[in-house]
Amino acid sequence: MPRKIIIDTDPGVDDAMAIFFALCSPELDLIGLTTIFGNVHTALATKNALNLLEIAGRGDIPVAPGASDALTRPFAGPVPAVHGADGQGEVNLPAPTGKPLNISAAEFIIERLRAQPGEITLVPIGPLTNIALALRLEPRIADWAREVVLMGGNALAPGNASPAAEANIRNDPEAADLVFGAGWQVTMVGLDVTLRAHITPAHIADYAEHGNPMSAHIARIVPHYQRYYEANYDVGGLFSHDSSAIAYLLAPELFKLRRWPIRVGTRGLGRGKTWPATGRRILPEWEGRPLVNVCVGIDGARTVDLQSERLRGA
Ligand code: BDR
Ligand code: CA
Repeated sequence: MPRKIIIDTDPGVDDAMAIFFALCSPELDLIGLTTIFGNVHTALATKNALNLLEIAGRGDIPVAPGASDALTRPFAGPVPAVHGADGQGEVNLPAPTGKPLNISAAEFIIERLRAQPGEITLVPIGPLTNIALALRLEPRIADWAREVVLMGGNALAPGNASPAAEANIRNDPEAADLVFGAGWQVTMVGLDVTLRAHITPAHIADYAEHGNPMSAHIARIVPHYQRYYEANYDVGGLFSHDSSAIAYLLAPELFKLRRWPIRVGTRGLGRGKTWPATGRRILPEWEGRPLVNVCVGIDGARTVDLQSERLRGA
């Protein structure tokens, strides 16, 4: 039986890659996308989610629109330098034919988890606001979810949105602290591993040769994103952030985990930093918090090759 997943996403170039990677993997059954601000505003994230499903020929998969702002603050704004003003590398996709659901992302998540307790894995690859809102509306989702496997955070690595913090968590640290503190199993696929999953120029050239609509779209949208990485990091190509969460679902043996409780910084320079309690002495702020599976090691080459293989076979 394929594993049922809901991807909560802010597409986003690497979000598009992750969604297509999931759709090309028979082990996974994508039962819905929920959208969130982050790389773009939520309305554009919803449009892009519909577009991506239509490119994949999966317009049957529902899309539920999420929150427009973080729990305690307005959204800080999109990152056109990274993903393009359209979130899809400036290719300016046409209006999708499909429409989003008229229930919110949080309501959709609650409804689906209630209907199939123990079966659905949440895969957030954007800020965690929708997941926190769903937890607030219905705390029992922490019992109903099979697992939460998220792209976000940095336990031991430096941040990317600030020296301290990773972008998804920094966009809503209060939401992230709620999600890491709920009594469900969270697996954190953060910068500790995603900055070691290197998509090379050779991989990128290969996408254009696959001859299917998903790989062709990736080949179109990646150059803008790649230019950002090549200008800002010492790398040719780019890093596979969101797809690393999908790779974990498919091949957890490619990852090394540590189990630590996590708190999220909400103030000052450390806003958005995910702080693991790595020592034996647990301070009161971490006491009683659930142990998070924190990915600290990865076979980056194999995770990236796995994505290419799946897309090539689409
Ligand atoms: C995360 O931030 C976004 O820019 C990417 O889509 C990814 O989810 C990486 O820090
Ligand atoms: Ca993302």
